[in-house]
Amino acid sequence: PNVNFRHRDGSIDVVDAPLGSSLMSAAIKHPVDGIIAECGGNAMCATCHVYVDAAFGDRLPPMAEEEDEMLDGTASARTERSRLSCQIVVTEEMAGMTVDVPADQV
Ligand code: FES
Repeated sequence: PNVNFRHRDGSIDVVDAPLGSSLMSAAIKHPVDGIIAECGGNAMCATCHVYVDAAFGDRLPPMAEEEDEMLDGTASARTERSRLSCQIVVTEEMAGMTVDVPADQV
């Protein structure tokens, strides 16, 4: 399914994210500027931080404790839309979802 990565200047990268992969790995392959993923997807760096469209919030996997803790240390401010993209496994239900790329990841 296509997921839109929106940048601060309003430009959008449309990424055809493979089912079952992480949103982070789809972004890295594209590649999407501003998604760094230093730790390779282990919920240990927070440089894959994104803000997910609230309308899709209930289609995301629940947040594990380690993700919750890492989100307290993001470079750009955490909001209620904040998630680590490496912890989001792509499903069909995410087609058309927009995520905002934060200004800073480090
Ligand atoms: Fe490091 Fe997601 S890639 S926390």
